[in-house]
Amino acid sequence: SKEITISRGLEGIYIAETTLCKIDGANGRLWYRGYPIEVLAENSNYEEVSYLLLFGKLPNRKELSAFRERLKAERDVPPVVFDIVEEMSGRAHPMDVLRTCISSLSIYDEDPEDKSQQANIRRAIKLIAKTASIVAYMGRYRQGKDYVPPDSSLDHSANFLYMLTGKKPDEMAAKLIDLMFILHAEHGSNASTFSTLVTGSTLADVYAAVTAGAATLKGPLHGGADEAALRMMYSIGDPDNTETYIEEALEGKRRIMGFGHRVYKAYDPRAKIVRKYLELYQERNPSEEVSRLLQIALRAEKLMLEKLSKTKGIWPNIDFFAGPLYRAIDVPAELFTPIFAASRMVGWCAHLFEYWQNNRLFRPLDNYVGEVDKKYVPIDQRE
Ligand code: CMC
Repeated sequence: SKEITISRGLEGIYIAETTLCKIDGANGRLWYRGYPIEVLAENSNYEEVSYLLLFGKLPNRKELSAFRERLKAERDVPPVVFDIVEEMSGRAHPMDVLRTCISSLSIYDEDPEDKSQQANIRRAIKLIAKTASIVAYMGRYRQGKDYVPPDSSLDHSANFLYMLTGKKPDEMAAKLIDLMFILHAEHGSNASTFSTLVTGSTLADVYAAVTAGAATLKGPLHGGADEAALRMMYSIGDPDNTETYIEEALEGKRRIMGFGHRVYKAYDPRAKIVRKYLELYQERNPSEEVSRLLQIALRAEKLMLEKLSKTKGIWPNIDFFAGPLYRAIDVPAELFTPIFAASRMVGWCAHLFEYWQNNRLFRPLDNYVGEVDKKYVPIDQRE
């Protein structure tokens, strides 16, 4: 009989060809559609990156402005979403609320029967625009504050921050939130994107597929790590406790959230960018909370690099410095993963549309190791 090898967690298995994203895990490099992430982080913006991912090329001025207008036209939060947020908040994890809201958007589809690429792009635009507004409203509601309607003079992520805080962000805060949206927009066949593809491969619709993506993003091994990493920094509390805390956690075989990656066996290039901007922001707008978090993060990073980078290839990932950066611009911890979802929406959609160009149902195998032909014992004769 043929020998069966099981690839736990599908490690090392290729599922498709793509032109969306290249990750060079050994050297810690990342490209979206061939453009280095560092270049996009420095010069681009979320709308342009979304266009690039969806359409395969950078837009010219006219294309970008038309795309921006289409996103702006979809920024409102639809009625049923208000009900879901109000009913579920306080009783459910924010990612449960968000997942339910995303799923509910299917009822607003103009023509569910239309399976054309054009209709799917229209759905992607709706999902990208509305998910950000929904996350902002979730944040408002949790703070007991009123809905802030979108402001069409602001770009996508600046408008998100405005709808969350009620204040128009200054240039630096707008840059930071946009940076986080860009860095989270896409990342190959990660768990939530894969799950989007699995659902999409049955020819279920876009809403079903990205709802599966959002469900998958919740866990602390994936999207939930940024919040978990920040909570760890709060538990450490005083920078002088950092080393003891980390040593004890590692001795107790606990994972340090924000470190390690299935593909990167080098410093995650996104983490480097986040760290750089966080340090820059802290220099310009010093805050006591962020300064303490940054000291803890840098000391934890140093120790982890000494202990685990050479031996196990464990380096900081994007989620490690994300928390302190979000805190610098006043984003509450429970919204980190929902923001990740709002940013990744474009990556989920772009992968799905690419996969549908050459769709095949995902149907892997599992190796049965139980018994067969067991005797069925009637219930009253069982022990
Ligand atoms: N802290 C301590 N040890 C770790 C960590 C960590 N963060 N990550 C991996 N290890 C150890 C692990 O214990 C194992 O050790 P041993 O071989 O002695 O048993 C070894 O490294 C390999 O771990 P693995 O679980 O087989 O690796 P994986 O490829 O399945 O895990 C990971 C990848 C991201 C799930 C894991 O590194 C992890 O749990 N990290 C913490 C959560 C996190 O930060 N996730 C965000 C990832 S980046 C953004 C995203 O995708 O959402």
